[in-house]
Amino acid sequence: MHDVHDDTTWERGGARMRFDIDRYLDKVAALDDSDIDYERFADEPLSDDVLRCLRYMHDVEHHTTCYLRDLLVTSAHEDPAVTSFLAMWSYEEFWHGEAIGKVLEAHGELAGRDRVALTRRRVGADRLRTLGFMAVSSFTDNVVAIAMTWGAINEWTTQAGYLRLASVADHDVLSPLLRRIARQEGRHIDFYASQAEERLTSRSAQRWVRTALKAKWKPVGSNVMPNAETDHLVRMLFGGSEGAAMSERIDERIDRLPGLAGLGLVDDVRRSVAA
Ligand SMILES: [Fe+2]
Ligand SMILES: [Fe+2]
Repeated sequence: MHDVHDDTTWERGGARMRFDIDRYLDKVAALDDSDIDYERFADEPLSDDVLRCLRYMHDVEHHTTCYLRDLLVTSAHEDPAVTSFLAMWSYEEFWHGEAIGKVLEAHGELAGRDRVALTRRRVGADRLRTLGFMAVSSFTDNVVAIAMTWGAINEWTTQAGYLRLASVADHDVLSPLLRRIARQEGRHIDFYASQAEERLTSRSAQRWVRTALKAKWKPVGSNVMPNAETDHLVRMLFGGSEGAAMSERIDERIDRLPGLAGLGLVDDVRRSVAA
């Protein structure tokens, strides 16, 4: 498996990489699924295991707007390049959710706003989370370093997850759709990883981020979805020798961020569920 980066958004200068927001804005688009024949699922339906992963992905993509809310109450909102990205990121993730929703609907499943309403109701008690972001941000910008590093890890695992599901499902309609989504996730990776690198320059930021990740990191969506669903997703997408190699590759990318070597976050989760 390899990264699906969009080459034009990165400029490699020495060891550091810089995200070009103007290039990203030129490329932002609602996922183009005009050539995807969703009706084909009637004759070639997906397995229950694949559909279960897609329900998770649908719900988490549509939860992006809530992640955005939490980011915007921090000092991240003071940087207009960051807010330009976040507005468009939320837009692209929305259309990922909509496309996956069409796959669910083609199987007679609930999707879109009706399904999202159920998810929101389930996590409604999570409002204190936003207050936490606001409170910590009032005395340290390191909360933004945490959020950006978290974002990079989430986008890395999400992209890897989509590519793995595309190969596990091996379906003429679903697999190309998931690979197309994964390509857009590559641009999100570029943003978050470059932000993480920029914000992890001080020892204090590195300490904060290490401590937070060690104590709290869990797969994206685990705060929104029931534990059984997260475990199923991890088993499906990070199981077996391919899943182990994928986890190792992501952990190596985390290792390369300043001050974050040796955390082994993704492999720990994989071992706890999928080993
Ligand atoms: Fe997405
Ligand atoms: Fe993304």
